[in-house]
Amino acid sequence: MNNIAEQLKKIILSASQDLNLNVDENQISLEHPTDFKFGDYSTNVAMVLAKQEKKNPIELGKSIKNKLEEKMPDFIEKIEIAGAGFINFYLRTDLLVKLAEKFNYEVEIKNELSENGHGKTMVIDYSAPNIAKPFGIGHLRSTNIGQAIYNIYKTLGWNTIGDNHIGDWGTQFGKLIVAIKKWGDTNLDEMTIEDLERLYVKFHKESETDEKLIDEGREWFSKLENGDEEARKIWQKCIDISFREFDKVYKMLGVKIDYVHGEAFYQDMLTSVTKEIIESGITTDSEGAKIIEFENMPPAMLQKSNGTTTYFTRDMATIKYRIKEWNPDLMIYEVGVDQDLHFRQVFKTAEMLGWMPKNGFVHVAHGLIRWKNGKFSTRKGDTIHLADVIDKAVEKASEIANKSLIGKDLPKEQKDEMIKSVAIGAIKFNDLSSDPRKDVIFDWDQVMSLEGDSGPYLQYTYARCMSVLRKTQVKEQKNINTIPETLNNEELALLKEFYKFEEKVIEASKRFSPAVIAEYLLSIARKYNEFYGKHRIIDQKEEDFRIFLTRTTASILEMGLQILGINTIERM
Ligand code: ARG
Repeated sequence: MNNIAEQLKKIILSASQDLNLNVDENQISLEHPTDFKFGDYSTNVAMVLAKQEKKNPIELGKSIKNKLEEKMPDFIEKIEIAGAGFINFYLRTDLLVKLAEKFNYEVEIKNELSENGHGKTMVIDYSAPNIAKPFGIGHLRSTNIGQAIYNIYKTLGWNTIGDNHIGDWGTQFGKLIVAIKKWGDTNLDEMTIEDLERLYVKFHKESETDEKLIDEGREWFSKLENGDEEARKIWQKCIDISFREFDKVYKMLGVKIDYVHGEAFYQDMLTSVTKEIIESGITTDSEGAKIIEFENMPPAMLQKSNGTTTYFTRDMATIKYRIKEWNPDLMIYEVGVDQDLHFRQVFKTAEMLGWMPKNGFVHVAHGLIRWKNGKFSTRKGDTIHLADVIDKAVEKASEIANKSLIGKDLPKEQKDEMIKSVAIGAIKFNDLSSDPRKDVIFDWDQVMSLEGDSGPYLQYTYARCMSVLRKTQVKEQKNINTIPETLNNEELALLKEFYKFEEKVIEASKRFSPAVIAEYLLSIARKYNEFYGKHRIIDQKEEDFRIFLTRTTASILEMGLQILGINTIERM
């Protein structure tokens, strides 16, 4: 592992202790200064300790610096005091090159990364669309972010299990069965997911004036839970119809989730799990229903008065199953913020029952997607259909390609492929580039911009690197034997980004935020493009070194984009 930061922290700790300062490990933090003129790492420890010891921070900084210099590891070129008492560390250029070289040996770097999570297991619950409802924009967000978090943990060597907890059970199926029987096509096979959605909406409309319908729906769900043959058959058809649609979406996105254990998967366990929970003594009777009460939250419903189960019950069964099956260290749920209360209830109940993964539960509660100019207009009505969004992205990507002459030399098939990758990459990046918890503004101009903070910008930069590598005669520049005497600012700025990759992946895993990686890749791409814009690469005396920078940039962009689930494109 690239443990420069760890080593530095240790040395800072022991230098402070040598000065008889009362210092705790947690007081030592390291940052990367935004401007590399202030070093590669910087610590404010002198300021923190000066306050505690009532000393002058700059003076204290100097004493710590002197102590540090006695212990200075050879990869540090110099240490300086700056500002109000920051201690700045400058890494040696040959170390930076050595760290960058690793990225040109895929297996080696991958092995190194995977030492981080060795022996640990995590389960992530993501995507989870609902049967008989279109795959919405919220599920798209969950799919993209969930898949990226899965990839991050996998890269770090965790045993990762993806589980698609689709909504294929619940009272809504009773309603749907009633609607299909009353107003549906006699031939279920002919129906589409839109038909199912329409019937469901109709049910709700009709039940406003006809209350009997609600009771009928309840009855049919009860029948379904009790294995009624007709109910089962209709339900299964709804699943098949929906999966025809979902599979298309997953294929387009290039996503494959390890398990599809929907809510219905747990039906046989529900009786015993409900029983176990009731026997544990944490439930209360409430008008025939079984509920769980909490100190500072509304109660959760475990069993309804007619004996049927709830979304909550099924989530409890799911936890029980996952612990038994995989014994995970960590369980993550990538689900919209509107389910915040539900997951707090679920996690609290699991805690009361002692059904806990070693490192606990995390709800990565993604925010909403808003459209920059009000609503996204769709042909089909109010709900946003993912297929429409993708169609529109492809249309926009073609417009841009035609305008900017991108791909003009590519054969048609390759160009179409490229446009599709750009469109999907753009949509994914938009979901991934801000913290999941934040709302996302969907602005087509920004999403598709070749110059801005976008997926296409990263893909374009990668293609640019590849084009340079095709032109050079310098082959396989994986190692650098002679580093140029002096490096220009652009070369240095780029070189000083590479070694941060591993830190960023680890930070992304700890914060459950692919945005950390997205931000990092943008910064690499910007630095590469600044370098590219200012300096010639081919036929220069620095060609070897500049090709090395180009190759390393391409490797890192490729690895990073792969984690984000975005395709790289060789030619644009
Ligand atoms: N199907 C649910 C919905 O669309 C999301 C399921 C999330 N996962 C879970 N274990 N509850 O709202």
